Amino acid sequence: MKKKLFASKIVEWYEENKRTLPWRQTKDPYKIWLSEIILQQTRVAQGLPYYQQFVKTFPMVFDLAKAPQQEVLRLWQGLGYYSRARNLHECAKSIVDNFNGKFPDTFEELKKLKGIGSYTAAAISSFAFKEPVAVVDGNVFRVLARIFGIEKDISSPEGKRFFFKQANELISIEAPDLFNQAMMEFGALHCLPQNPKCEDCIFAKTCIANINGLQKELPIKSKKLKVRRRYLFYFLIQHKDQLLMKERGGNDIWQGLYDFYLMESKKPQKVESMLKENILKNYQIETRSKPIKHILSHQQLIAKFFHVEIKSKKEFLKFAQANQLKAHSKEEIDRLPKPILIEKYLKSF
Ligand code: ADE
Repeated sequence: MKKKLFASKIVEWYEENKRTLPWRQTKDPYKIWLSEIILQQTRVAQGLPYYQQFVKTFPMVFDLAKAPQQEVLRLWQGLGYYSRARNLHECAKSIVDNFNGKFPDTFEELKKLKGIGSYTAAAISSFAFKEPVAVVDGNVFRVLARIFGIEKDISSPEGKRFFFKQANELISIEAPDLFNQAMMEFGALHCLPQNPKCEDCIFAKTCIANINGLQKELPIKSKKLKVRRRYLFYFLIQHKDQLLMKERGGNDIWQGLYDFYLMESKKPQKVESMLKENILKNYQIETRSKPIKHILSHQQLIAKFFHVEIKSKKEFLKFAQANQLKAHSKEEIDRLPKPILIEKYLKSF
């Protein structure tokens, strides 16, 4: 199929079938950037309320830049991948400090900013500034692989480069914004991963996958994620209405979020054997939860929660200090950013 014909067909399909979404109603690069960072994390339906809350709380990049990190993490809570939220905040600060709050208007300049890779830079520069750079996400890989019968591996760098080149040859120079939205929307609504709507497709006659029955085979993705399993033993240490919590640091999941005193193991264990050499062995466990499974993109967490009450305030505070924990009231805990695993447990208890 001719390049121009492909672009005009998919844009025409988009105009007839698109969803009305708030970030498509604006040319403000700040709002487009917010929406794209959120949508890398989740689907449109789940991302929409987050987008609305961010725009309401931080209407301009200046508002986001001057917010405390904790507030940004609290709003992001539930989306996962919290480094994205920290990068979002860093990026806002850098745009205020180095660009007077005005987003750079080219793909190359945008890509230099924290947390903005090729995908996000292409989205902002094409949607806000009509730069003809192709957006290539999972939807676009699928649409191109199927229609053009591309058998390159989308998990390899060469494969990715090939798709990027292909998309950039197809993009409409006059309407790169519509072309990019159209490719993503076609993948999201029509050329679905399972059960694509081939019988009612504008490309049915020319699509290589449809003609050859290769919808299930394309795109090709060789690399499977390796999942690491972790056993988490969480201790809710309480004195009256106060609980001990800790801000997570280090090079691990949930940096900047709050959780409880934690012991961890790579293998399933009884809590008693974890406690043997630990100061906690002097305390009585009041209640214990069933194991709770929590899935992250590369990790499977199996968490158990143990409730320990320390009657003496002095001992409670001593324990807190020795373990870099801090006492918090229920109201304070409500406002802290927490992993969903912790939030859900607290709600249930
Ligand atoms: N997913 C990622 N970016 C999107 C956009 N701009 N519209 C709809 N879904 C998306």
